[in-house]
Amino acid sequence: MPILIRPGRPADVAAIRAIHEASFPTAAEARLVDLLREAGRLAASLVAEVGGAVAGHVAFSPVTVGSGAVGAGLAPLAVLPDYRRRGVGAELVAAGMAACREAGFGWAVVLGEPDYYGRFGFRPAPGFGLSDEYGGGDAFQVVELTPGALPVGAGLVRYAPEFASLG
Ligand SMILES: CC(C)(COP(=O)(O)OP(=O)(O)OC[C@H]1O[C@@H](n2cnc3c(N)ncnc32)[C@H](O)[C@@H]1OP(=O)(O)O)[C@@H](O)C(=O)NCCC(=O)NCCS
Repeated sequence: MPILIRPGRPADVAAIRAIHEASFPTAAEARLVDLLREAGRLAASLVAEVGGAVAGHVAFSPVTVGSGAVGAGLAPLAVLPDYRRRGVGAELVAAGMAACREAGFGWAVVLGEPDYYGRFGFRPAPGFGLSDEYGGGDAFQVVELTPGALPVGAGLVRYAPEFASLG
């Protein structure tokens, strides 16, 4: 079945919440998306439609380093269990990266599985002198969206304040 990636709309809010609740152990990620939306900090919010059903969602929000450089933080990403392993997640990540680039973000970060995100060009951030607030080590990864934009050596990358709700 074809996969359609498009920006999330107000009518998708409940479906987006259900996708994250079905994909993570708690409702924290679903709540995070709601908080980012309310704060106006969803830099990109894309859904995947498969056969007319909203089956996946990815959010990006601004992240900052001490120098003031702003990047895009990918989180959360989820696909409904019945729709996994057919490239829905990959299409959401690729389209989200393109949307962030078009919105003017020169780099993006993610805290996740290197085996999964490496295929999109993400590389362990510590190798570029960047770290995260959660002690993610090499699971904290970065990708340059615009040549030369990566703030190499900038140290700590901070997510939006709403991430504190993850506890
Ligand atoms: C991660 C997730 C979004 C992937 O969605 P998807 O639509 O199945 O992704 P794709 O079809 O593009 O890719 C599937 C591939 O990724 C692999 N993969 C999925 N999760 C993975 C993980 N945590 N680590 C490594 N590989 C993973 C699968 O094995 C599969 O590989 P294969 O196609 O070579 O067999 C989905 O599994 C999900 O919602 N998981 C629960 C929530 C979650 O963990 N989100 C990510 C938080 S950073």
